[in-house]
Amino acid sequence: MPEKNIQYQVGLKFKPSVTVKELLLRLLQSAGFDMTTLVDEEDRQQWMLSFYVYDKKALEVIRASLRSIRLKGVVCFTKEHHKDVWSVQWKKGWKPFELTKRFYVIPLWQERRSYPKGMIPLYLDTTNAFGTGLHETTKFTSQIIDSLQGCFKTFLDVGTGTGLLAIVALKSGATRAVGFDIDPGAVVAARQNLKANGLKAVLKACTVERFVPLKKFDLVAANLVSPDLIEFRDRIISFVRPGGWLVVSGISLANIARVKKAFNVPSLRLLKVVKGKEWAAILFKIRDENE
Ligand SMILES: C[S@@+](CC[C@H](N)C(=O)[O-])C[C@H]1O[C@@H](n2cnc3c(N)ncnc32)[C@H](O)[C@@H]1O
Repeated sequence: MPEKNIQYQVGLKFKPSVTVKELLLRLLQSAGFDMTTLVDEEDRQQWMLSFYVYDKKALEVIRASLRSIRLKGVVCFTKEHHKDVWSVQWKKGWKPFELTKRFYVIPLWQERRSYPKGMIPLYLDTTNAFGTGLHETTKFTSQIIDSLQGCFKTFLDVGTGTGLLAIVALKSGATRAVGFDIDPGAVVAARQNLKANGLKAVLKACTVERFVPLKKFDLVAANLVSPDLIEFRDRIISFVRPGGWLVVSGISLANIARVKKAFNVPSLRLLKVVKGKEWAAILFKIRDENE
């Protein structure tokens, strides 16, 4: 069993250089690393790209892979962190940022809570769940929800993670938000985040396969991986009311065509595809009887 109180940081350090960093990012990505878990730290003397893992076996695999990247001036390092240290350490790399044109995300532990004039602050802790908002999948979904401001009253967050999408929906005019996640830890994190923003949502530990809504929703967001979106397509569509909207996200660029084809069904009308460097999100409208 992994020792939960110890976390290992394993990564590459090098002298500050944008060229070296870009090259390393490309190498890590093509080596199959999960770039959403990468921690990027820069100071004057040294830059680091690293991953945090609990498990010694995972550590060995990552270390072997990093060591095979042989570039002059780039050194592979490993550090052991005890919980109280690492739970603070990685947060240093996560700074406040603009999520959409209206929303500005501020980490909960940030002491300085200033934000650009006219923007709406959203407070978030992502220690135990996915969804800092920095990832393209979350960002695009948030932007689409924001763009539908005032058009919907009820919102469902399929795979809620940190609850950020539910927060965005409630701040965009929803009067009722429901979210669920297969991971009970994420549900706890989402509840804390909703509370930190003075909001309320119904959040539960549940899977797409088992979730039964009391009523269909005006807007549903599902940021899952493409195979899950395809497998659960009919269930996810069934959560939306006729005339409502569905955002599917978590689609890597390589999978857009597959997902579009799978969602090319008579009940849906494709409204928008938002593409980034690596990921995409798609907005659909559910046809009602007048269409
Ligand atoms: C990519 S994250 C999205 C989190 C958040 N909604 C966002 O947009 O940042 C996907 C989330 O879905 C959850 N998940 C994955 N498969 C699921 C399933 N079958 N049923 C419910 N939740 C699931 C994961 O635990 C994870 O928190």
